[in-house]
Amino acid sequence: MAEKYFNALNYSLANEDTRLEVELCLFYKPASILSICGSGGRFLPLLASNPKKIIALDLAPQQLYLAELRQLTIKILDFEGFLLFWGYPPYKTTENRTKRQNIFNGLRLSPDCRQYFEDLFSSCNWEGLIYQGKWEKTMTVVPKYLRKVIGGTYDKMFSFKNQDEQNRYLQAKMNDRIWKIVPKSVMMVFGNAAFFNAMLYRGHFVKKNIPGDYYEFYRDAFKRLFANGLARENYFLQLLFFSELRYPEGNPIEAIAGNFNACKKALENNPEIDLVQDNILAFSKKTKETFDFISLSDVPSYFEGPSETNYLQDLRRCLNPNAIIVVRAYLRIPVGTLLDGYEDITDQHAEAIAKEKVQMYRIFIYRYKG
Ligand SMILES: C[S@@+](CC[C@H](N)C(=O)[O-])C[C@H]1O[C@@H](n2cnc3c(N)ncnc32)[C@H](O)[C@@H]1O
Repeated sequence: MAEKYFNALNYSLANEDTRLEVELCLFYKPASILSICGSGGRFLPLLASNPKKIIALDLAPQQLYLAELRQLTIKILDFEGFLLFWGYPPYKTTENRTKRQNIFNGLRLSPDCRQYFEDLFSSCNWEGLIYQGKWEKTMTVVPKYLRKVIGGTYDKMFSFKNQDEQNRYLQAKMNDRIWKIVPKSVMMVFGNAAFFNAMLYRGHFVKKNIPGDYYEFYRDAFKRLFANGLARENYFLQLLFFSELRYPEGNPIEAIAGNFNACKKALENNPEIDLVQDNILAFSKKTKETFDFISLSDVPSYFEGPSETNYLQDLRRCLNPNAIIVVRAYLRIPVGTLLDGYEDITDQHAEAIAKEKVQMYRIFIYRYKG
């Protein structure tokens, strides 16, 4: 089981574009939400839909501490202060160290959380934290490798402010011998299970079951990413090609002014936000709470055997009628999952799914018929 892997600060930014889940929450207006926590950046933006309650679950206490810190910074800081503290563009993680330290010292965190970040901040000399997760650190290997192969000429891709110009440029470049190496290089590093296993997952990487080889998978994902939006508006492409975020217009949704301010306002209504260290499978069997919206991240890709067959059935006991469940599958689509009681409404949200900025997931959206 992946529990051995999920016991550290693995995610500090967001390797899923939560814009999709935010859009769904703004549409369905759930009063109660259950979400996998991850960096916190994957569930706190859902506050924009003004829920009464959110429970965020994670196996790793480090992820829950990060969510506690994020939540408090949304509450206490204004938008500019939030960007500065975390190191989002136009600021850098390597700037404003003293200001960051002063902000941190003024935050009222739980004692364990404070201790955890005092240690982390002193180990990184008060850098902003968005690249401190193991996944984000692993990502920085890719750009270094790519730069070696193609010499950094891809910076031009991020200069376009118009989709047609970007398309024309990439079309021309795709016939260029050097540029043909790009998807292959990305695949060799980023799309290689052995690489991830060695660097990050220590043998607990998902067992791929989607058809096609890794090269086709990443090639198609990159095609969608470049065709469906400007590279400079995509934080994931920036991380992948530059090892950092550079353009504020590409910031993840938590660092976009409209969403940030809506979340800040929602916090004024004192919603109940519980950060719980538990396994979603165990939690769904024992909780007395019921939910209107569940965001499962790609956690079900790690399920095996009875868990992948029954997890949606186990969740039924904690769902309100018409509840929405969002599942992301990364490389592995859970096999034989029983869908009794659910309607698959994925196609109704095809447009929002196409705009998702990471495009490495098969996304499924279910409505509980109740
Ligand atoms: C599944 S990871 C995201 C993985 C990532 N998208 C990827 O490509 O591998 C998101 C978070 O889920 C947590 N997690 C994993 N399995 C879990 C489980 N069964 N119950 C609760 N949290 C879990 C992890 O600790 C992590 O912080």
